[in-house]
Amino acid sequence: MRKQVDEFKYVAETNRLLKDGGLLLVTQGKKGEPNAMTIGWGFLGTMWRRPVFVVAVRLSRYSHKLMEESDSYTVCLPGKGMEKMLEVCGTKSGRDMDKFKELGMTAAKGIQVKAPYIEECPVHIECEIAYKDQMEPGELKKAIEDEVYTTRDLHTIYYGEIKGVYEVEGARSKLP
Ligand SMILES: Cc1cc2nc3c(=O)[nH]c(=O)nc-3n(C[C@H](O)[C@H](O)[C@H](O)COP(=O)(O)O)c2cc1C
Repeated sequence: MRKQVDEFKYVAETNRLLKDGGLLLVTQGKKGEPNAMTIGWGFLGTMWRRPVFVVAVRLSRYSHKLMEESDSYTVCLPGKGMEKMLEVCGTKSGRDMDKFKELGMTAAKGIQVKAPYIEECPVHIECEIAYKDQMEPGELKKAIEDEVYTTRDLHTIYYGEIKGVYEVEGARSKLP
């Protein structure tokens, strides 16, 4: 049984995991198929007087297509021992495989949003897409653009209004 907690309870863990290993972004397309992708860039903060979780998804990702078909996503904090899931979700595309099936992950129904979350993750954050911004060539500081966008595979930046953060019992001790 998951408990709803303060939106900012896991900010420190979110930042630590983004830097080291990643988080899992879960999307669901219009046909209802769930997909998970590892993310290393994003942040949790405040916009429009609301808590938001911002994620950046490159145009080439299968997750991008699903984000465009949906109004929500979840960000899941992996538990100890989920390194293989992070590796596979960060290197294989949902276009070529059903990551949930292959990795034995369970897509649980979102509590407040349509997008599912990963049952095996001790903490998850439910977001409703409030705004998106397509990065344009030439707008970013040149040194960063040259370093990060050599293939011109730009990010769409999604601002998700946080509808709820949920934890399992003893979640902190289950995080890496
Ligand atoms: C540690 C790590 C962090 C990543 N962060 C991002 C990210 O923030 N945004 C992104 O678009 N891709 C990121 N990726 C790459 C995607 O996870 C990867 O391309 C994935 O296979 C895409 O899956 P999909 O095609 O099923 O959406 C990251 C990969 C790793 C290993």
